[in-house]
Amino acid sequence: MTDELGRLEDLPQDYREELVAAGVAPLWPMMRNVLPHDAPVPKTRAGYWNYQTIRPLLIKAGALTPVEKAERRVLVLSDPGRGVGAMQATSSIYLGLQLLLPGESAPAHKHTPSAVRIVVEGEGGYTVVDGERLPMCEGDLVMTPGGDWHDHGHDGTDPVVWLDALDLPLFVYLEGSYAIGGDLQAQRNRPDASAVEYAAAGMVPTRVRQQAVRRYPMMRYPWASAERALRAMAAHGEVAELDYINPETGTDVLPTLGFTAMMLQPGEIVTPPLRSSSAAFHVVRGTGRTTINGEPFDWGPKDTFTAPVFADLIHEADDESFLIRIHDRPLQDRLGYYEERPR
Ligand SMILES: [Fe+2]
Repeated sequence: MTDELGRLEDLPQDYREELVAAGVAPLWPMMRNVLPHDAPVPKTRAGYWNYQTIRPLLIKAGALTPVEKAERRVLVLSDPGRGVGAMQATSSIYLGLQLLLPGESAPAHKHTPSAVRIVVEGEGGYTVVDGERLPMCEGDLVMTPGGDWHDHGHDGTDPVVWLDALDLPLFVYLEGSYAIGGDLQAQRNRPDASAVEYAAAGMVPTRVRQQAVRRYPMMRYPWASAERALRAMAAHGEVAELDYINPETGTDVLPTLGFTAMMLQPGEIVTPPLRSSSAAFHVVRGTGRTTINGEPFDWGPKDTFTAPVFADLIHEADDESFLIRIHDRPLQDRLGYYEERPR
């Protein structure tokens, strides 16, 4: 591969004008833009969002804009590499902080992209997906997969905030993103599948032959279970990292996005390999800092930060810390190019 590719300016002006008139362009002056040497050159830059800064702005949005005027009352976390207003936090991950006030409901709709919510604060919120009522407790991971009807409600007394993570940028890129509205759903009168069908790790309901299993059988992953499991691993000296999976198939919860819960002990330093996936980290609890490509970001409870593809990461925890990593490794696996390189 040569670095001595011809430039546009090397071509005669009249020839360049003939190319434009014919609706074509020479590849060679642009080739390194799309095929750089050895590794991608991401547009995404590391981002950091302090929850204590954003929370009052979110509460103010609650006073300024009724939920009926917003459908979903969200402040979008925009990738610094693309600028405020960008509908993506990394190349493939959309992030937004959503507020629901007591007594409010967000109307039912369904759309092609999938969403996963991580509950940041508040009690009494719930999401209904295809008639299943999913309580939203702090740290819970609640899925609303693409194509499934969902609405949100709030029976509590204080604001509820959650972090939305969607594969929206991919659907926008594919020109495949749209939503359909509907009425609030009737709710089945029973707990969600995490408490009924999938209450025991490693066990699933016995199936009658040819009985259809839902594509996304478990939509809520309670934080209490995740924390208990992380603590058990840490107590026995294991690397305390757990992937969220579909309990029926063992595969990632979504075909596009993956979710990994991690626990760091006070003073622990973790240096993951350079991954071809982009990532967002949400701090469920704890304080520390993460150095991303040499730039340190101090984080505290409920903060969120992002890292571009092949980022060099050093996580350092000051206190016992729990983070959830959101990443696009499942999509890259499907496309056949996910890769990890040593630091
Ligand atoms: Fe939605």
